[in-house]
Amino acid sequence: MTARQQPKNLWIGRWGFVLAATGSAVGLGNIWKFPYMTGEYGGGAFVLVYLACILCIGIPAMMTEIAFGRRGRGSPIDAVKRVAQESGRGKIWSGFGWMSMLAGFMILSFYVVVAGWSLAYLWKAISGGLQGGSVDDMAAIFGANNANPLTLGAWSTLVTVVTMFIVGKGVQEGIERNMRWMMPGMVLLLLVMIVYAMFSGGFGEAVTFLFSFEVGKLSSEGLLAAMGHAFFTLSLSAGAIMAYGAYLPDNKSIARTTFTVAICDTLIALMAGLAIFPAIFANGMDPASGPGLIFMSLPLAFQQMPLGSVLQVIFFVMLSVAALTSAVSMIEATVAWLTERKGMSRKAAAWSSGIVLWLLSTLAMLSFNLGADWTFAGKNFFDWLDYLTSRWMMPLGGLGLCLMAGFLLRDEIFRDELRLSKRQHALWLLMVRYVSPLGIVLIFIDALGVMSI
Ligand code: PHE
Ligand code: NA
Repeated sequence: MTARQQPKNLWIGRWGFVLAATGSAVGLGNIWKFPYMTGEYGGGAFVLVYLACILCIGIPAMMTEIAFGRRGRGSPIDAVKRVAQESGRGKIWSGFGWMSMLAGFMILSFYVVVAGWSLAYLWKAISGGLQGGSVDDMAAIFGANNANPLTLGAWSTLVTVVTMFIVGKGVQEGIERNMRWMMPGMVLLLLVMIVYAMFSGGFGEAVTFLFSFEVGKLSSEGLLAAMGHAFFTLSLSAGAIMAYGAYLPDNKSIARTTFTVAICDTLIALMAGLAIFPAIFANGMDPASGPGLIFMSLPLAFQQMPLGSVLQVIFFVMLSVAALTSAVSMIEATVAWLTERKGMSRKAAAWSSGIVLWLLSTLAMLSFNLGADWTFAGKNFFDWLDYLTSRWMMPLGGLGLCLMAGFLLRDEIFRDELRLSKRQHALWLLMVRYVSPLGIVLIFIDALGVMSI
């Protein structure tokens, strides 16, 4: 216990960390990305692999990340370095901290664009800009929204500014308060949408699509995508959970917290699927329509719903807030590092990383208009940010941390932090030593095999 660092800013209140970590986890990943990826990779098989990855890789990896964060009490770079040094290992291992910080930054650069869509649609919902009776009308609205780099850029810039403002003030202040109404509100709204869908067609088809587990249908590409999404949706290997873990009080249970966050996140994703796919099938839309999927299908569904125009506004408010509470967590690692190591104030750290972020996110935003043909190997800048982080950096980071915790570092550290029963600890060890690494490596090998054909 003597090696423990002194904590600086602990989460306030009994639920502080759980709320903040859930705020980080629940976001566009659940409501925007999960449905469109499930649509793209053919439904149930993708969902099954994704759920298996949450259980076998995501949960052990999240426990490990929080343990690193709390033990090291610092930005991911310093936390990993300190835990390594406590075990007599060199500071080279902090490379995994660097990679996760970079991943968080890269994700945020395209995340703000999608959060910008959400704000733009909130505005359209309020001002009556989402009229039209067909999927084609909605596709036209989505296309027009992306076509103008100035307005699209204005929305993503707004998201960047708000994010940096919140981060500059300190994440502890606003997040806890907002999450208290956001989570129940989100669940309630999704329930209303699901109940409506049950009585209005497309529901049976949606359930079959989401839960008919034909694993044979899944490609290697889909397998890798499902694993990557498990990391993305739980905010793993992106600095977020580890940075937040640094503020976790010593007496809180890491295991209990992890399960709460993972269960909330998974429930919201599955509910989002059940709320959104009926609208897709009822309107004869192609589930594989890509990143615009929810923006093209939901406005149609809301038009048909009683009180739909009000519900639609509520929906986009929630989506935007959910996106913000995630965005804030992605930059926390960078800001923590800049304040701890470079002696900057939080404000200065937030705004200077904000400028770099703004440049990158502008490039990502241009992928939908001027820069649509700035492609490399068939992917534009936006796609590359997503692809590199989700498919490669996050799973590799997770692999590294699990193997470090399982083999390289002193086990007492993790016994101290996780405080599991003997059996549970043995199970955690089994997961981080063999099950998660093997799963990750096998999926990588499978994916590489396909790429070389
Ligand atoms: N988990 C968030 C979501 O599902 C995204 C995220 C990724 C947040 C990485 C933080 C770090 O939307
Ligand atoms: Na998520």
